[in-house]
Amino acid sequence: MFNNLTNYEDDPIEALFKRIGADKSVDKIDLGIGVFRDQSGQVPVMQAVVEAEQQLLKQNASKSYMSPLGNMDYCADLERSIFGVDHEALQRIVSAQTPGAGAALRGAAEFVQSLSPKATVWFGSPCWGHQIEFFERAGLSVKQYRYYNRAVSKLDFTGMLEDLGALQEDDVLLLHGCCHNPTGEDLSLPQWQRIAEVVREKRVVPLVDIAYQGFGSGIDEDVAGVRLLAGQVPQLILTVSSSKTFGIYRERAGLLSIVHQANASADSLRRKLRDTLRQLYFMAPNHGAAIVHEILSSETLQQLWRDELNAVRQQIVEMRGALKVTLEQVNPNFDASFIQRQKGMFSCLPLSAAQQLRMEQQHHIYMLPNARVNVAAMSTEQSKALANAFAAIIGE
Ligand SMILES: Cc1ncc(COP(=O)(O)O)c(C=O)c1O
Repeated sequence: MFNNLTNYEDDPIEALFKRIGADKSVDKIDLGIGVFRDQSGQVPVMQAVVEAEQQLLKQNASKSYMSPLGNMDYCADLERSIFGVDHEALQRIVSAQTPGAGAALRGAAEFVQSLSPKATVWFGSPCWGHQIEFFERAGLSVKQYRYYNRAVSKLDFTGMLEDLGALQEDDVLLLHGCCHNPTGEDLSLPQWQRIAEVVREKRVVPLVDIAYQGFGSGIDEDVAGVRLLAGQVPQLILTVSSSKTFGIYRERAGLLSIVHQANASADSLRRKLRDTLRQLYFMAPNHGAAIVHEILSSETLQQLWRDELNAVRQQIVEMRGALKVTLEQVNPNFDASFIQRQKGMFSCLPLSAAQQLRMEQQHHIYMLPNARVNVAAMSTEQSKALANAFAAIIGE
């Protein structure tokens, strides 16, 4: 059986990680993987997480199975964190805690496929590559709508609306709630409003994926778009990651929610969701979800976490400002204002694939496809090296 498998290739992201590992230069800079690093290059553990774990250890809680729907306290906490305490969507929501938003997206794909196999799922272009895979693997058709114009480093909202003209009833429209991956370019509130109108006109189901709450403009500000949308559409799918927001990447905690019409059967939806997830991975892990619940259910820990998350955002905002200035200093004709305007971890530099390869080979600087750089993983020194290398490459 196993002899039949030959020449199985790495996907572009795995291949990049291998090239980074193989590069022995002391000057190499990894701007690929999506983690936050402090100025010393470490991926820090939040103090709120450390204290929550200490409390959990003292509680010595059972390690018995939960349900495939995971930790219900975590679900209630995250529903409130996303929607606020009094949003009407909380009256018509069914949720599961999943092993991260990756699993939530894969679960959503399976859920949609089983209920609406002919639906097409629409992704912005460019898009985080794994996101599309989750839906293709479930057997759904996928299409892309214009989202970002790399030639001018701006959102292409006109192109987006034109492409969404082709949506068919029951299609799924995937949107990033904040800090768009890979472009950092988010919709404004009037644009979310326009999207709500499109969703209603076309009778499609929006799927909002939120992986960076708190990294853009603020913990509440970053979810203003999804709050607006959920209040105006009959149904919505929501996926949320706690990996970055709580810095618990490897603990695997995420949310998958179905906001349904008021007259739908919540019990049936919950049972269907439970069975869908059970068939995918049987049971959810609990540790990450328990940490998040410990933090969000304690006033002191919640405040500590908010302060730490605000400091993370502050570092990203400062780094964006500094990178813009440095890029423009060494490239006098280059307008880098988009770096400062965009939100969250990522931005895409206007480099071709060939130029990106030269950044690796000549300057040991590694980025994901679309020249996506992780601004949140950069030290001040590295941002200067990036700006100089960028100037050298575009000046060739
Ligand atoms: C937009 C987006 N959604 C989902 C995920 C998956 O996150 P998790 O670690 O919770 O699986 C990521 C991870 O990078 C992401 O960027």
